[in-house]
Amino acid sequence: MTASAMVAEFDDVAGWTADAVEQLGERYAIPAACRGSASPAALAWLAEACELSAGTRLLDVGAGAGGPAAWAAKRFGVRPILLEPMPAACRAAARLFGLPVILASGGRIPLRTESVDAAWCLGVLCTVHDKAAVLREIHRVLPPGAPLGLLVVVARRPRVVPAPEGNLFPTQHELVELLAGTGFDLVEQIDQPNDAPLSWSRRAERVAAVIATRHRADRAHALAAHQSETFTRLFASGQISTQLIHAARRPARQTPAQAIRGGTMSTSTGDNFEIELETEVEAELTLAESSRPEELFGQPASEWLFDPTDVQREEVELRNLLGAVEKLSGDSNPDPAEDA
Ligand SMILES: C[S@@+](CC[C@H](N)C(=O)[O-])C[C@H]1O[C@@H](n2cnc3c(N)ncnc32)[C@H](O)[C@@H]1O
Repeated sequence: MTASAMVAEFDDVAGWTADAVEQLGERYAIPAACRGSASPAALAWLAEACELSAGTRLLDVGAGAGGPAAWAAKRFGVRPILLEPMPAACRAAARLFGLPVILASGGRIPLRTESVDAAWCLGVLCTVHDKAAVLREIHRVLPPGAPLGLLVVVARRPRVVPAPEGNLFPTQHELVELLAGTGFDLVEQIDQPNDAPLSWSRRAERVAAVIATRHRADRAHALAAHQSETFTRLFASGQISTQLIHAARRPARQTPAQAIRGGTMSTSTGDNFEIELETEVEAELTLAESSRPEELFGQPASEWLFDPTDVQREEVELRNLLGAVEKLSGDSNPDPAEDA
């Protein structure tokens, strides 16, 4: 999606939605802030599939204006954390629902490893070029076996016409490969359930009408409307369909560095084991040293949901580990001069 169309659809409209809801009343907030991607039936399916319950820490990646996460909090008592790269959408979610929102991309989630219980990513993957990067990050923040709820617009053929700007719809085959390749098991998949009840869609339409009255002359409004018409045509012609997916996070492959840290390394995997291990630890150390997640935020440190000292601890741990590995390499490759 071009920057202007993306900003129009996901940022400007989100901000206008919050303004319109403030005028109309709170009961308009959730239907209007589910940015067209979900209905209560779809959300209920995802919530049941993911076995959400009171207190579940649910990360919503690409949360938009926060409607789905607010719905899950209201109906299932979850504790949502919203992650969204568009600033006005973040502000809209905070204004409308008072939920914690992280301004960040799903490709780099500033949360601790295995720090949430479940994740949703609804209507996001088709707007993202590097879908695997987002799924890998979600995999990292979930513990093994944890559920992921996805709403994905899937292309029924490799090329859809007209293609909405910036959207890259995966085919079913690509989606299955993507999930498997990023460490998820596909547990169940269904077509999106039928339309929302009138009482829900009328509230969303009322908000849209207020927005149109106020912003019809705005270029961003025209861009967002054009995008939405293109989607309607593609659904009507059967070129795309919306799929709901319940996936589960597979345990990560244990790396040699993790094995040595966890004390499970008992045998060498080959002649080059120490060299491979050293290379891997060096790579992890570089990553840890270059990681400055706090720079993603303008928020005070007290409001960060990750712990920056984790990064420092990780660096110290890796440096110690690197020293041990270097010693190990030295011991197993004694200096020939010493033998002489
Ligand atoms: C169709 S909207 C869906 C919003 C929300 N999930 C919902 O269902 O109402 C797609 C959202 O994905 C967000 N998005 C785009 N690229 C993203 C990325 N790299 N990481 C996380 N979110 C992204 C957009 O800003 C937008 O809010």
